[in-house]
Amino acid sequence: MEEKNIVIELKGLTKRYGYGDTESFALKDFDLTIKRGEFIMIMGPSGCGKTTLLNIIGLLDRATEGEYYLNGEDVAGISARRSAKLRAKKIGFVFQNFNLIEDLPILENVALPLVYTGMPKTARLKDASNALSRFRLQEKEYYLPSQLSGGQQQRAAIARAIVGKPEIILADEPTGNLDSRSSKLVMDELKAIHSEGNTIIMVTHNPSLTVYATRVINMLDGAIDTDIKTVADQNLPQPIDVKIKKKKSEKKEKEEVFISFAKPSKKKRKKSKRRRK
Ligand SMILES: Nc1ncnc2c1ncn2[C@@H]1O[C@H](COP(=O)(O)OP(=O)(O)O)[C@@H](O)[C@H]1O
Ligand SMILES: [Mg+2]
Repeated sequence: MEEKNIVIELKGLTKRYGYGDTESFALKDFDLTIKRGEFIMIMGPSGCGKTTLLNIIGLLDRATEGEYYLNGEDVAGISARRSAKLRAKKIGFVFQNFNLIEDLPILENVALPLVYTGMPKTARLKDASNALSRFRLQEKEYYLPSQLSGGQQQRAAIARAIVGKPEIILADEPTGNLDSRSSKLVMDELKAIHSEGNTIIMVTHNPSLTVYATRVINMLDGAIDTDIKTVADQNLPQPIDVKIKKKKSEKKEKEEVFISFAKPSKKKRKKSKRRRK
């Protein structure tokens, strides 16, 4: 696989807390290369550095030492402003506790990441609405998060994570607070997003979920213990529309959103209808 397919490259990443006697390492000399279209599951005991790793990859946190390249760009030392911009454009987050804003309707929660794109509000709400219908939540648009079940809230959170078409989805124990039926629905959605060529990095404690992954990484004490690819690089899903560039007409943008979020193939549509029954 060519270089351009590398989305994330970490070299010698170290995250240290404290100094001297209180010094501890959440990550230690961590190396990892992630290719476009991988679905990576990260496992490991509590405290081994999984959340720290995800937060650094998601530009929510910084390493103490080491290199981080995102789509080839050195992002280890970039400004807070630049990292916020990159994050909004390239990265979608899903958290264990959903992290929806309680006093905002679902629709506005999902539209939030688009605020940074400069799109007009009506267009943002339209995209959010399309994303919600993909997750069969169109009838819940005006509900508050507390009026939805856990599974529905997490699906709304996934809609929020993908509404800006970020290409990298980071999920920290997204099914940790869900029953098995809701977990399955959430995993099926992540699987569909992955099959469109997106890169997913997910932390989980549940070994049975690794069937969805193309690669399983076990961490121990801030380092990689085992790293197993279950799908060969050449068999990873190809991106459906990576060629989205800045200058595009409003109309074209809507079309793309429609294609990649709102309108699964006929086959898939039938399937999801069946699933709803
Ligand atoms: N703000 C912090 N200050 C000090 N230590 C921290 C901080 N955040 C995390 N840690 C430590 O870093 C280690 C890794 O934490 P974390 O990444 O949350 O682990 P995991 O997600 O695998 O449970 C833990 O030992 C934790 O106590
Ligand atoms: Mg954690």
